[in-house]
Amino acid sequence: MSPTRFTNKLAGQRVLLVGGTGGVGLSVAQALLEFGATVVLSSSRAAKVKDICAALVKDHPNAEDRVSGHVCDLASPSVESNIEVLFDRVGNVDHIVYMAGDRLPMVPLDDVTLETWQKCNQVRTIAAILVVKVGTRYMKKDRRSSIVLTGGSICEKPIAGGWSMLALMGAGLNGLGRQLAYDLAPIRVNVVAPGVVETDMWHGIGMDEDGKRAFFAEHESMIPTGKVGQPEDLAEAYLYCLKDANATGVVVHSNSGTFLM
Ligand SMILES: NC(=O)c1ccc[n+]([C@@H]2O[C@H](COP(=O)([O-])OP(=O)(O)OC[C@H]3O[C@@H](n4cnc5c(N)ncnc54)[C@H](OP(=O)(O)O)[C@@H]3O)[C@@H](O)[C@H]2O)c1
Repeated sequence: MSPTRFTNKLAGQRVLLVGGTGGVGLSVAQALLEFGATVVLSSSRAAKVKDICAALVKDHPNAEDRVSGHVCDLASPSVESNIEVLFDRVGNVDHIVYMAGDRLPMVPLDDVTLETWQKCNQVRTIAAILVVKVGTRYMKKDRRSSIVLTGGSICEKPIAGGWSMLALMGAGLNGLGRQLAYDLAPIRVNVVAPGVVETDMWHGIGMDEDGKRAFFAEHESMIPTGKVGQPEDLAEAYLYCLKDANATGVVVHSNSGTFLM
């Protein structure tokens, strides 16, 4: 029996991180490189893709041939052909991790229109479905292949602040993951549902550093762990979904104990 059968579970596997240049994506990519996997990142900005790939290679100098990145704008009207071009460039993969998210949709009900609702959904749900549709053509029909979607805790634990649209999308992604696990079997499909995680995503809704600190401090005064999630915490939830060939149709929570509040 190999003494590294657990640590080597991801060695040699190709993992595409869609939206992998953000805070959580970077941590997952670092973990994957540490475990010997090959990482392919994509996001909408060429400069960001280049910078994150360079940062990963700097941290893992022996992994230059295991890091690459491609631009794929998921907010564009040509989203499906962008995804087709992406997979044409990337080729076969063992896993797809979908973690793309644009500006958080904090839209009060009075401001919801058909247009805003469609716009809110494009990157987080519509493009996710299209990535799965195109991406599965590039995956082995095997239980060691998997797809991980990203939802959020808000759909099961509402908080004040106008998050209804995000709650609907999160609940939809949980349902989508479970149904796809059935439809795409034996390829596994799981969902990671983060609580509040300390990344730059919070700057995207207009919070400056002080505003973010104040929001985190208030949240930390209520959550059982007393600390908002860190990207390296979240990375474990994704790694679990990739490694456990027996896990499919599950929602993995990493949320500082938010549900106990
Ligand atoms: N951080 C949290 O507290 C938290 C909580 C619950 C759920 N989540 C979810 O977890 C995921 C990762 O979160 P994070 O904190 O790492 O977010 P982040 O730092 O904002 O990263 C978001 C990623 O999505 C990409 N993206 C945005 N617009 C895109 C587009 N039009 N086309 C392609 N890619 C696009 C970004 O790259 P570009 O901008 O360069 O395109 C980036 O790679 C997101 O889906 C987020 O909603 C996060």
